[in-house]
Amino acid sequence: MSAKSSFNPRDSALDVLLAVLGGGRSLDAALAEHVPSDADSRDAGFCRAIAYGVLRNHRRLAAIRDRLLHKSLRSRDQDMALLVEIGLQQLLAMETPAHAAVSETVAVARHRGKQWAARLINALLRRFQREREDCLALVDTAPAVRASVPDWLLARLQHDWPDDWHSLLEAQNTRAPMTLRVNRRRQSVAGYQQRLVEAGLPARTLDGFPDALVLEHPVAVGRLPGFDQGDCSVQDGAAQLAVALLSPGPGHRVLDACAAPGGKAAHALEHSDAALLALDDDEVRLERVAGTLGRLGLQAECRVADAAATDDWWDGRPFERILLDAPCSGTGVIRRHPDIKWLRRADDPPRLQAAQRRLLDSLWPLLAPGGRLVYCTCSILQAENEAVIAAFMQARPDAQAVPPALPVGRRVGYGQQILTGEAGVDGFYYACLEKR
Ligand SMILES: C[S@@+](CC[C@H](N)C(=O)[O-])C[C@H]1O[C@@H](n2cnc3c(N)ncnc32)[C@H](O)[C@@H]1O
Repeated sequence: MSAKSSFNPRDSALDVLLAVLGGGRSLDAALAEHVPSDADSRDAGFCRAIAYGVLRNHRRLAAIRDRLLHKSLRSRDQDMALLVEIGLQQLLAMETPAHAAVSETVAVARHRGKQWAARLINALLRRFQREREDCLALVDTAPAVRASVPDWLLARLQHDWPDDWHSLLEAQNTRAPMTLRVNRRRQSVAGYQQRLVEAGLPARTLDGFPDALVLEHPVAVGRLPGFDQGDCSVQDGAAQLAVALLSPGPGHRVLDACAAPGGKAAHALEHSDAALLALDDDEVRLERVAGTLGRLGLQAECRVADAAATDDWWDGRPFERILLDAPCSGTGVIRRHPDIKWLRRADDPPRLQAAQRRLLDSLWPLLAPGGRLVYCTCSILQAENEAVIAAFMQARPDAQAVPPALPVGRRVGYGQQILTGEAGVDGFYYACLEKR
């Protein structure tokens, strides 16, 4: 039987959720594994929408389920517990007709040989339809449940952003737009915008983001005109701000210390003929940099290395520009990767802070006098951003912070913080450090 006819979106969404919530896999990896490339595109889209939706609302859905159940399901029935969430997600937040949401979800339990669960899920989803308002009123009293975030993350957001945590929680659960970066080596933004319109894909420009176009509706990259030929890339506006801060010039030696999958390296090379060294300590991810540069017709030296172990890879010649797009919690991009909420742990921010500081300390001596290092993360946690830079500045009198001139975000100490959803872009932090 072909994947087209045998693919069941709810059943596969359950496999995806089990892989993420039970197996610790990333959502992207789980989708790649469980959604065959030849599945019907509408079914595949529906499967993705369920998986994203359940991960966005996981804690709230689980709370509703637990209210409606008389006794908890056994840990070996975690699949059925998640199947209930799949049913509730359709009833609560999707346009699926209620009768199909119930009967097709119940059919998955039957298909998996759990007749007892089919009966239970049928009764539970029908009860939710009857008692919906009362049930929601009860579970929505706690903000962490209502917005579906782990307690540790809510506590950090409340501490770091006492005036903004409400809107941040909302932004994290809102679907992100699909933003393109036009390859200005090949055409103007206006020219590419026109090609998009002709392809039936209207897009708008984004004030202050000179290379960006935001699509009205997300599409598969295969539908983007000239994508394979390198005419555009998919990249959020906030990530597109790095290149102006780095401002690489012709002949500059540029280090992209944490380069994979290569979005910012490619953008830098679209703007200048710098000699760029792209490092990443993850060999598989680094292969994606080569793929991206190849598609765009750009060149850089790519090397697998721990950037902080400079003795292993540095040739002793200083760099005029260093980009440190540091490994981070990804809390600024939760709207694109809702799995982050459940895969990250309370002790990640301090662990990541130590890794970020180690990278910064090790790379600083490689910067030429008068050169510039741009530090950035897609995190909205102060521990990974301002705290890292403030401690570094205290220890390095030869470092001078230049306020990043960005079209969005707010000054926080030495750097600039963009909170998720501001101007429609991802949460990001930038600091620019120059060597005296
Ligand atoms: C935020 S991502 C970089 C995104 C990339 N700059 C882009 O724009 O496409 C961080 C990267 O740092 C890499 N990384 C983590 N620790 C590293 C280290 N010690 N040395 C080099 N790369 C590292 C990770 O493998 C990951 O690919």
